Formats: sequence, structure tokens, C-alpha cells
Amino acid sequence: MFVVLLGPPGAGKGTQAERIAKATGLLHVSTGDMFREHVRNETELGQLAKSYMDKGELVPDEVTISMLNERISRDDASEGVMFDGFPRNVPQAKALDDALAERAKKIDRALLISARDEELVSRLSGRWICRQCGRLFHERFDPPAEAGKCDACGGELYQRDDDKADVVRTRLEKQKPAPELIDHYRQAGVLHEVDGERSIDEVTTALLEALR
Ligand code: AP5
Repeated sequence: MFVVLLGPPGAGKGTQAERIAKATGLLHVSTGDMFREHVRNETELGQLAKSYMDKGELVPDEVTISMLNERISRDDASEGVMFDGFPRNVPQAKALDDALAERAKKIDRALLISARDEELVSRLSGRWICRQCGRLFHERFDPPAEAGKCDACGGELYQRDDDKADVVRTRLEKQKPAPELIDHYRQAGVLHEVDGERSIDEVTTALLEALR
């Protein structure tokens, strides 16, 4: 099964993708995580991506699509993928459709997680991430047992540079799923919308239900 997870910044895509991947065995592919890994490794692509991410803007399509195509050409992506943060617009969606069609596959479900801006701002400003294993926490909604330390692996928790208030504002202006993107999947008959303002567990249950 090939699934895309859509939603504005902070809607819970990463949190839910991790849980759904565990429950279903789908491979979790996050373009945001891939860019952050390039930034950490100080690659040329990482430097380019950082110049956009720091401003809260999307990385250009040709760069993002080619990185994604390379990822899904690997063996571990042949049976099923949960795409998190890709596609962000219709050209990316069409590129993904084409890449899957070449392998006689298609998007089976597009899961849209929705939430209001004030909720998104409070989620992003309280988000903490494990430097070692990537587990996500929230200082109020999903706090670690010990402040600054990951429950899963004991790693150090950090906050993302692009979670600063001014960058969050730009991300919310420029990175919500466009109506045309949502229509692309509605017309394909695969769109399911889930209210992302419920608890993390309730959202997981609703998404897994939509995948049945
Ligand atoms: P990316 O990392 O994908 O950022 P994003 O889309 O802005 O999404 P986030 O990771 O910020 O939020 P999320 O929806 O995953 O929420 P999370 O689960 O963490 O991309 C980063 C950058 O890379 C982009 O800005 C862009 O520059 C570039 N990029 C990436 N993909 C691209 C593409 N396709 N094209 C071009 N450029 C691209 O949850 C947030 C917080 O809320 C956490 O603390 C969590 O614990 C908490 N939380 C989650 N769910 C709930 C709940 N139900 N109740 C209470 N708290 C909750």
C-alpha cells in the first residue's frame, strides 16, 4: 500500500507516520527528515535545503522530486510507503504518480490531518525531538518522563531551528496543503480527512480506520 500523509506544519504528520509505520509495517519516508539529515551531514544538498528551510519556505520541486525518486527506487520501498511531507503541491503529486506508475503502483490513500492555526502554533512551539532516535515529544501534550531526555533511548532532546515564532508564521502561510493538491486526491477517490485536534491516540485510531 502507498499512502500520503497531508497536513499543515504541526498537524501531527511525523507523530502519526511513526505510529502507523509501526502498526502496518509501511516504510516511513519523510522529506523533512531527509533534508535534515543532509543538513547534519553538511552535504551540498543540505546547504541548499537549509537556505529554504531556515526561511520557512519549500525547497524547489526539482531538487525535492529527484531526492524522493532516488529514495523510492530502493528495494525497501517496493512494497509500500507512508509518505510524510510529500507531496506539497500538484507538480510533486504528479511526479509521485508517474514514479509509482512506472512500477505499476499507485497512491491507495491520501490522509489529510487538519487543525486550526492556533493549535498548530502551540504544537510547534512546544515540540522537542530526540537527537538520537528522532522520537517526537511535546512539552505539554506528550512530555518525556524526564525533561530533556528521550523516553525511548535516553538521547538528548532539542528544538528545531524552524520552530522559531517568525519562521513558524511563514511556514503556516506558505506550506498548508493547497486546495488543488487536496482536489487531486479527492478526484482520484482516495482522500480521507481526519480531525487532527483530537488526542494523539484518537488520531491514530482514525487514521488506521481509514487505511482498512
Ligand atoms: P517537515 O519536517 O515535513 O515539516 P512540516 O511539514 O512543517 O511538518 P512538521 O514536521 O513541522 O510537523 P508535523 O505535521 O510532522 O507534526 P509533528 O508530528 O512533528 O519539513 C521541514 C522543511 O523541509 C519544510 O519547511 C521545507 O522547507 C522542507 N520540505 C519538506 N518536505 C518538502 C517538500 N515535499 N517540498 C519542498 N520542501 C520540503 O507534531 C508537532 C508537535 O505536536 C509535536 O510536538 C507532537 O508531539 C505534537 N502533537 C502531534 N499530534 C498531536 C495531537 N493530536 N495532540 C497534541 N499534540 C500533538
